[in-house]
Amino acid sequence: MPYSCLLYFEDETQFALQLAHEAGLTPERIDRHRFPDGELKLRLPPHLPSHVVLLRSLVDPNEKLVELLLAARTARQLGAQKLILVAPYLAYMRQDIAFQPGEAVSQRVVGQLLASLFDTVITVDPHLHRINTLDTVIPGTQTVTLSAAPLLGDLIAQRHVNPFLIGPDSESAQWVAAAAQHHGFDYAVCQKVRHGDQSVDIVLPAIDVTGRAVVVLDDIASSGRTLARAAQLLLAAGATCVDVAVTHALFRGDALQVIQDAGVSLILSTNSIFHTTNAISVSPLISKKLIRRIQNRESICHLETSQTDVYRDWPSQ
Ligand code: R5P
Repeated sequence: MPYSCLLYFEDETQFALQLAHEAGLTPERIDRHRFPDGELKLRLPPHLPSHVVLLRSLVDPNEKLVELLLAARTARQLGAQKLILVAPYLAYMRQDIAFQPGEAVSQRVVGQLLASLFDTVITVDPHLHRINTLDTVIPGTQTVTLSAAPLLGDLIAQRHVNPFLIGPDSESAQWVAAAAQHHGFDYAVCQKVRHGDQSVDIVLPAIDVTGRAVVVLDDIASSGRTLARAAQLLLAAGATCVDVAVTHALFRGDALQVIQDAGVSLILSTNSIFHTTNAISVSPLISKKLIRRIQNRESICHLETSQTDVYRDWPSQ
């Protein structure tokens, strides 16, 4: 029976059990041991079905890429013929060109690694910018790009009547549009210039937010500087309140504090990355894709891309 098994790691048990339940998969935990020297040992179920789903959200990705390498190659040896990676957050997507001579184009390198390990990759709102589609990033692999933006739109609609949605940079336009569309919200995007990891300049669009509840929506919050700067400017421009909503809640270091200090009322995120701000689950979005194939008994290799991403313009992160 294809697709009968969902492999997962202990720190993602909650998400894995929800996804397995919704998709009708048998959850199987990968045992993970760290040796004193830092090396990892993984132990998978000794007999695997021909079609196997592996869940790994790639927040703090460096060690997890080694896990994927060990797990995927071992799964093949244990009987898996078709391997699907479910990575609700896909890391290393922002470095898509060499900005300086000699820089690694991480997106391409990591994409090629995943292509060598998996037949299919399913992810949510990958940060593609100068490269239009995930197929290009992970060549020769079936890719499924899902978007949590409509879910965030629904969440915002539960909290505000007639909010103004703002994207903090040009590449956020697609997510803001998708979130606004269904509910008929007003929306616009800012222009952003990044000067460093913790330093961004933002120019607001020519709109009037006086007396409006505003929600700044983006795919990722990392240092939180982008959301914080946008919120400061919007409040100074007359917004009655500013909330923020993101798909991927990285929120590194003092990000949450910086965002709160900027005057943000509410911080919402999806559980593509486990975080205290999680307000909605992307698991049903993913399981729907898996279920269709299980019920239809279609080959996992026939999964199609569900969304075509169009990205333009600067900045890279
Ligand atoms: C890049 O354009 C992304 O969409 C985010 O805007 C960016 O990664 C946020 O980074 P930070 O929270 O560090 O400002």
